[in-house]
Amino acid sequence: MEIIERIEDLRRIVRRIRREDKIIGLVPTMGALHEGHVSLIRLAASSNDFTVVSIFVNPTQFGPAEDFERYPRSLDPDLEKSRSTGVDLVFAPTADEMYPSGFGTYTEVEGLTQMLEGASRPGHFRGVAMIVLKLFNLVEPHRAYFGLKDYQQLKVIQKMVRDLSLDIEIVPGPTVREPDGLAMSSRNAYLEPRERQAAAALFRALQEAKARAEAGESDAESIRKAAEDVLRAEPLADIDYVAVVDPETLQPVGQVRGPALVALAVRIGSVRLIDSAVISNEQ
Ligand code: PAJ
Repeated sequence: MEIIERIEDLRRIVRRIRREDKIIGLVPTMGALHEGHVSLIRLAASSNDFTVVSIFVNPTQFGPAEDFERYPRSLDPDLEKSRSTGVDLVFAPTADEMYPSGFGTYTEVEGLTQMLEGASRPGHFRGVAMIVLKLFNLVEPHRAYFGLKDYQQLKVIQKMVRDLSLDIEIVPGPTVREPDGLAMSSRNAYLEPRERQAAAALFRALQEAKARAEAGESDAESIRKAAEDVLRAEPLADIDYVAVVDPETLQPVGQVRGPALVALAVRIGSVRLIDSAVISNEQ
């Protein structure tokens, strides 16, 4: 497995791999790799000739009051996990390498970025879209892998790829969860034991919404409220949003007919967690 920090070195290898007509799969990450990341890497390694993982904690997608400084960094265990999962190349650049001095170009994906995470984290998605576009330019992957855990991010990337006619297949991967349902996340490491217990309320809220829809409830507000009530019952949970939206447009729906997305963001102590699930009622 090659470990590359410099853009110049990455380009040389990508040129060689492309000349050999190999299919390149990319899994972009911010490191602190867990089973969620590993499942995407396995998916990539199983269907491409050359699997690249990028590890870069991207400063421009964090707000000024967010957790960029304390975001977990663990390069050595990340490299070990990558190696044992069949990664061919890890690209782990420094911030100076990715942001030449005077950097000032961003990627604005309109329409899907105003709501949910976009509303709570202004500027987040222009940082995400730009860094992913930059990684696409550098790695030239045929396929790139994104988790449904960050559903809105996946949709934003899919839209960017369509709008800019990028010749890259975006492959979604299912959300990997802890035994109590908590979605795996690098940020779970910040949770104190009592908070970690409380965090299971997010999954229970999604399950409640799912059960209501499956029992035939079609009023989106009733479903939303049922999920919210589960969170309200957890004293450590401070709700940012609970929304029932169209899975494609991410706009709120009044009625659940066919699939809808329940999306939530909750602060537990100092940790902000997000999760979502597609629900559907039987009619
Ligand atoms: P990061 O949070 O490290 O996540 C990297 C990828 O792993 C994303 O596609 C994310 O959706 C996926 N992922 C995270 N937790 C998961 C889980 N429990 N199950 C399945 N997949 C999971 O998302 C980012 O980094 C960044 O925004 C990035 C795209 C790398 C741009 O900086």
